[in-house]
Amino acid sequence: MNILLTGGAGYIGSHAAVVLTEAGHQVVILDSFCNSHRSVLERLAKVLGKAVPCVEAVIQDVIVANRITSDLSDVLEKIYIHEIFGKD
Ligand SMILES: NC(=O)c1ccc[n+]([C@@H]2O[C@H](COP(=O)([O-])OP(=O)(O)OC[C@H]3O[C@@H](n4cnc5c(N)ncnc54)[C@H](O)[C@@H]3O)[C@@H](O)[C@H]2O)c1
Repeated sequence: MNILLTGGAGYIGSHAAVVLTEAGHQVVILDSFCNSHRSVLERLAKVLGKAVPCVEAVIQDVIVANRITSDLSDVLEKIYIHEIFGKD
């Protein structure tokens, strides 16, 4: 299952990311890092042996974007591509 884990860099979220990934799910973290640090992603990669994709965004912004476009998956895909490759 593809899972968007909001707050995934936080205390509960990062532990959930490990459990869900080890259970075979494809996890994408969405976190603003307002109460966590990007180094969590490095620790997750070390524990899991692979990087967990992460979108740095405020969830409210994504919800607003969804209201505008009515297509959340498309918005997330664009944000994700932008984060990874630096272009739309
Ligand atoms: N035992 C321990 O060592 C320990 C350590 C930390 C926390 N805790 C406990 O865990 C609980 C808190 O854990 P948690 O995981 O719920 O909180 P958290 O703050 O650790 O995680 C929330 C995550 O959501 C992100 N976030 C917040 N608002 C956001 C937004 N609008 N958009 C996108 N991302 C956003 C934050 O950056 C953070 O990464 C508390 O009860 C705390 O006491 C325990």
